[in-house]
Amino acid sequence: MDNLKQILRKKTPIWFMRQAGRYLPEYRKIRKKEKNFLDLCFNSTLAAEISLQPIKRFNFDFIILFSDILVIPFALGQKVEFKESIGPILNKIEFSSDLDLSNRCEQIHKLDPIFKTIKILSKEKKDKQLIGFCGGPFTVLTYMLEGGTSKKHSIVKKKIKDEREDFKKLVNLITEVSIIYLKEQIISGVDIIKVFESWAGLLDEKDYEEFIIEPNKKIRESIKKSFPEIPIIFFPRQSQNEIFSFINKVKPDVLSLDKKILTNIYNIAKEKNIILQGNLDPNILLNGGKELEDEVKKIMLQFSQNDHIFNLSHGILPTTPIDNVKKTLDIIKDFDEAK
Ligand code: CP3
Repeated sequence: MDNLKQILRKKTPIWFMRQAGRYLPEYRKIRKKEKNFLDLCFNSTLAAEISLQPIKRFNFDFIILFSDILVIPFALGQKVEFKESIGPILNKIEFSSDLDLSNRCEQIHKLDPIFKTIKILSKEKKDKQLIGFCGGPFTVLTYMLEGGTSKKHSIVKKKIKDEREDFKKLVNLITEVSIIYLKEQIISGVDIIKVFESWAGLLDEKDYEEFIIEPNKKIRESIKKSFPEIPIIFFPRQSQNEIFSFINKVKPDVLSLDKKILTNIYNIAKEKNIILQGNLDPNILLNGGKELEDEVKKIMLQFSQNDHIFNLSHGILPTTPIDNVKKTLDIIKDFDEAK
């Protein structure tokens, strides 16, 4: 935590969700070298190069490992593909018994190329902090059961209703594997970890407690027990009022915020010594102009009494003009220097 606190004392550090990706011409060029997206994630030399692309271009303060949350279903034996303009396609599983769990170690070994990417990056990172990550167990499970990105999540909702015990078994399993995976990332050299619980907002209070809070809390406690100094960023997207329960029970070091912010979050974060991360809307970044300028300044003002890492409320959109990113960084810097 000390390194991060030290950076925050000096400036408002900046990184963007999905900062390595299709909006960068240098990414699109490398992307062509591997047909299957996961093969790109498992090509350690290329994945390290891609992770560093946004740092070279924009001098962001953090490097995020180039990979994906869906490497966990892959490690568990599911077929995972990415189709252009559709997104991820997985061969659906129905029950926990559809997964072969006889050898966890062997499964995590399938992700060795990712640990190799981290080792390369930790040698090249200089003064930057390296972020490793995994998906939140519930979020990863939605992809495993729905077979990809879903609008209605009807399979997930039905399973929670009709086969709650098996659903819970799957959540526990992914939690357990994710903990092993994160620990291996830390041993390989990441400085910070982030848990992307992107679909947290789907659940009502009772299910949220059981399938969002409990697993995220388990992850936090297990990581803290082995690596107390490693900061953990949580992103329970669209949690709305449940966010307070999340804060009290999961105890994030850093809370990554989406678009909708509850007004008392600033005071609560201060009181509980939580760093806030966020929350420029990627659509505003895409559109640019005066609206972007005003919004960036507004965010800097809103968070001025907090420990704040500037970021987006969700991933950067592939058609975002590079100049809009540059402009955003300049505004933040000017604002910081005028303080
Ligand atoms: O942030 C970074 O730069 C690091 C890399 C990263 C990717 N995905 C690369 C990626 C990270 C941290 C993720 C997280 C991720 N992946 C999440 C959680 C965050 C969120 O967006 O809510 C989720 C839900 C996924 C699953 C996923 N991966 C989807 C739904 C898609 C398709 C949509 C899309 O943006 O294309 C992906 C593909 C993906 N992951 C791409 C990249 C750069 C694009 C693939 C390509 O280049 O062909």
